[in-house]
Amino acid sequence: MSSPVSYQLEDTIGVISIDSPPVNALSHAVRQGLLDAINAAQNDASEAVVIVCAGRTFIAGADITEFGKPLKDPWLPDLLNTIEASAKLVVAALHGTALGGGFETALAAHYRCAAPGAKIGFPEVHLGLLPGAGGTQRTPRLAGVQAALDLITSGTPIAAGEAQEIGLIDKIIDGDLRAGAIAWARELVASGAKIRRSSEQDVPEFDHAIFDVYRSKLARRARGQVAPDHIVACIEAAATMTFEDGMAKERELFMACMDSSQSAAMRHLFFAERLAAKVDGLAKDTPQRPIKSIGIIGGGTMGGGIAMSFANAGIPVTMIEISEEALERGLAIVDKNYAGSVKRGKLTQEQAAKCRALIVGSVDYASLADVDLVIEAVFEDPELKKKIFAKLDKACKAGAILATNTSYQDVDAIAAATGRPEDVIGMHFFSPAHIMKLLEVVRGKKTADDVLATVMALAKKIRKVPVVSGVCYGFIGNRMLSPYGKTAQLLLLEGASPQQVDNAMEAWGMAMGPLRVFDLAGLDIGYKAREALSDDEKGDPKSYRVPDLLVEMGRLGQKSGAGFYHYDDARKPTPDSAVQEIIDQVASELGVDRRTVTDEEIVARLIGALIDEGKKIVAEGIAQRSGDIDVVYVYGYGFPAARGGPMFYGANRG
Ligand code: 3HC
Ligand code: NAI
Repeated sequence: MSSPVSYQLEDTIGVISIDSPPVNALSHAVRQGLLDAINAAQNDASEAVVIVCAGRTFIAGADITEFGKPLKDPWLPDLLNTIEASAKLVVAALHGTALGGGFETALAAHYRCAAPGAKIGFPEVHLGLLPGAGGTQRTPRLAGVQAALDLITSGTPIAAGEAQEIGLIDKIIDGDLRAGAIAWARELVASGAKIRRSSEQDVPEFDHAIFDVYRSKLARRARGQVAPDHIVACIEAAATMTFEDGMAKERELFMACMDSSQSAAMRHLFFAERLAAKVDGLAKDTPQRPIKSIGIIGGGTMGGGIAMSFANAGIPVTMIEISEEALERGLAIVDKNYAGSVKRGKLTQEQAAKCRALIVGSVDYASLADVDLVIEAVFEDPELKKKIFAKLDKACKAGAILATNTSYQDVDAIAAATGRPEDVIGMHFFSPAHIMKLLEVVRGKKTADDVLATVMALAKKIRKVPVVSGVCYGFIGNRMLSPYGKTAQLLLLEGASPQQVDNAMEAWGMAMGPLRVFDLAGLDIGYKAREALSDDEKGDPKSYRVPDLLVEMGRLGQKSGAGFYHYDDARKPTPDSAVQEIIDQVASELGVDRRTVTDEEIVARLIGALIDEGKKIVAEGIAQRSGDIDVVYVYGYGFPAARGGPMFYGANRG
């Protein structure tokens, strides 16, 4: 089998080229090829060596598919030490995304250049890991302790220009990177540039207190995750020990992370997310419809955020509202959200203004005559939605995709209101839609393959994580919320308090406990939905009696200042004895025996409820695979990534 790494002498420069699609990951074959090439360079006429990659990116990291399997020589840290020890000057030439082990390879080179669009970073923390091939030791030596802590604990890549400013990259090369890197290597040799080994540099001055500052910051931000804390320990070792001792520390903690259940869970999610983007039975070459402009019906909570998601990806949006006044209100919310993005440093003022200019408003459906896709986001009223789809059928050109953002309603019934059900699909965004990454793509019975393929690809373009769902009440995510919410109500009647339920779930890792979530969403939503149901359909009163009484008392949740909790002006929840009285009263009316409920039981029953419903969803074919459910819950419902999603967690707990 031919090696993915080739080596050739170009005049006086040895060029090591890696060509291992799709992302030049450091598989065993790549590591072996790199080792052979660097060794060959030591004994030939080369004066310097350039490491460059073919395809869309420089090495994007270790090969994650090899994790959890026995390690095969050469190990990456040893290989990188060999590269760094090279007697010939080594230049790394970066393009695309030089990540994790990929950027560690670049750090082992003596000089680094990059294409202007390149990005570098350490995403290991998102896999429950830390850089395990010297990244925690070499980065602080080049960029200082604080920059290393920021880069490695956040996992967020930075642009080549920024990397140059902090000393991680030496030169940006415009034009042909390979030719530019070779020419630069020649210049370095000609100017007598020294072999400059990162491991031999001193860590710039730093304040020792910084490590504890990051430890407490990360304890809040990455609750319960071990990798961030270990990263701080490794960087502290880099700053206080010899390079060799620091490397030993990094190896010890890297292996501890690799063997942890957290990393197994996060690696599962990495592949589950990528698998979720694939639709079983849909040919890879299914044609896609061009989407150059879109329309949105409804500029409320969701419409505004959805508009921003498209505008941020450079796609023009026409937003339709019911009146000029409603339109003005909707666009004002968009303005406010853009101001927020600027304030949080997500966009510059210019970027925000450029995106905002792509959103225009109208009260006339005729403005949608030329758009390629319309997303309806009006009130959750099935009859209203059907009326709007009948109108869209007339207003939109042939071939336009008609999507609904409904949370629960029957996409097939909505499609039937048009003369072109094959063009209709569900695009269920999550709130706030310009921030939340999940997109449930609801495939109707008649949705055409090219419509589905188009929407899946479009999701990626607007930086969402798509998961396909079949049609059922609530699709994947909201359908699972129903038994979860009912179980939370039973736990209250049996003896747990709202704060015990929420605290137990938050301590376990959920971003927010179930009762606080209900208060945030508004208790009136469930109340209104139940009003339309018969007693039979509503099920056991134990699962809804308490929230119904709270709504009847005017306690609608955060928006009315009270729900399961009392809220002050800053929306901080405090326990409320009036709620406990209602719970006690309902328990007694419905004959529920009160007892002590433990935190373990709360977690087991609530997560168990999610798992049981998830199994049904897979069995019915609503979700393509159980990993899709994990992606939905982690990206849309605050399930802790370090536990891999409800189905992964359930499978590993038997
Ligand atoms: N190992 C193995 N496969 C990888 C991989 C990796 N590091 N990175 C990506 N892939 C695979 C994906 O699974 C996918 O496979 P598929 O086509 O069969 O689904 C394919 O490459 C393309 O990936 P994406 O769909 O994600 O492509 P994008 O163009 O959207 O993104 C990327 C490219 C930014 C490189 C993204 O894939 C990514 O972030 N990859 C992971 C990078 C990473 O985590 N690196 C660190 C690894 S850990 C490490 O290096 C440890 C070291 O310190 C010792
Ligand atoms: P909202 O009440 O904030 O906004 C609805 C908007 O639609 C209002 O501005 C209203 O003026 C406008 N509208 C009503 N009839 C219209 C018509 N005929 N033509 C044009 N505009 C019209 O509602 P929200 O929360 O944005 O929800 C919209 C949809 O998104 C619903 O189907 C909801 O279930 C779904 N959804 C809501 C989520 C949330 O968290 N709020 C999350 C995911 C989906």
